[in-house]
Amino acid sequence: MRTAVVTGGGSGIGKAVAARLRKDGYQVAVFDIAPSGGELEYKVDVTDRARVDADWGRIVNISSSSTHSGQPFMSSYVAAKSGVNGLTKSLALEYGPQGITVNAVPPGFVNTPMLRRAEGKGLLGGTIEEHIERTPVRRAGRPEDIAAACSFLIGEEAGYITGQILGVNGGRNT
Ligand SMILES: NC(=O)c1ccc[n+]([C@@H]2O[C@H](COP(=O)([O-])OP(=O)(O)OC[C@H]3O[C@@H](n4cnc5c(N)ncnc54)[C@H](O)[C@@H]3O)[C@@H](O)[C@H]2O)c1
Repeated sequence: MRTAVVTGGGSGIGKAVAARLRKDGYQVAVFDIAPSGGELEYKVDVTDRARVDADWGRIVNISSSSTHSGQPFMSSYVAAKSGVNGLTKSLALEYGPQGITVNAVPPGFVNTPMLRRAEGKGLLGGTIEEHIERTPVRRAGRPEDIAAACSFLIGEEAGYITGQILGVNGGRNT
């Protein structure tokens, strides 16, 4: 059985990714600074490099649709997430010869505690409902939408897909 490591898997998108990969048959280890108490959950701060081991040959980084659109008053976040996209492309070139693929999923407006916190602080430039009106599929994203993309990208059949930025955003920021 293959093991998947989901960082930040204690909440929101990461929690849904962990649930989806368990359903797909992976043994899932969750690394989070605030684990929710489930099986194979480890209290790990992913900024503490020594505590993070390398995983099997698929890496999916979570960036942000704000790297396409920009986001007022969140310049450091957008800059950091743009770095994640660049890191993804460079690591794909470095690790391709070893059979390791590296892709990124930039989510857009996924209804999680983080999005609701950003709405509460007035960082979204409108309410979640107003954003839904501007989203072609007319709904907010669900953590499971991101989990489905991750499930695809780490699958055996996705071995020829690497260095890609796969937007999951309901049709915005295409
Ligand atoms: N929700 C959205 O609309 C949206 C949009 C764009 C990008 N994202 C990205 O998706 C990812 C997940 O966001 P979410 O909305 O599920 O947020 P969330 O706040 O619901 O969950 C984040 C999880 O990460 C954990 N965490 C934070 N710092 C950590 C650290 N140093 N080490 C280990 N775990 C840590 C938290 O404890 C929490 O369980 C983030 O990278 C976020 O930037 C989310």
